[in-house]
Amino acid sequence: MKKVISMLIMASAMVFAISGKDIYDGNCAACHGADGKTKALDKSAQIAGMGAGVIESTIKAYKTGSQNKYGEGTTMKSSVETLSDGDIKSVADYAGSLK
Ligand code: HEC
Repeated sequence: MKKVISMLIMASAMVFAISGKDIYDGNCAACHGADGKTKALDKSAQIAGMGAGVIESTIKAYKTGSQNKYGEGTTMKSSVETLSDGDIKSVADYAGSLK
């Protein structure tokens, strides 16, 4: 039992250790570029320079399905729908640091 509990603690520590950069590199960089300067699918604005607050609220709007600027809202929705509010905050902080 003790072993199980310590394994659970380790596993949750690993989950919480996922940084905004890890989320960005794993879930966003393919379309938006590692530096945030790629226009996703040649449509979106570049996200570098947008600022963390704007990126956070934009991601939340895509997650709920209320944002669809260039007709690709569902592409973004499926890219962010599994992220928790905490994940969204960390990835927005990281993406917002890209200049
Ligand atoms: C499969 C490609 C893809 C992935 C992966 C992806 N995006 Fe996007 N993103 C897009 C597209 C396409 C749009 C434009 C959607 C629309 O029509 O509104 C967009 C739009 C955005 C916008 C708004 C840009 C604008 O022009 O206002 C932000 C911010 C954004 N994405 C952030 C992210 C973040 C952060 C992640 C990772 C969690 C991510 N995206 C993952 C393709 C992607």
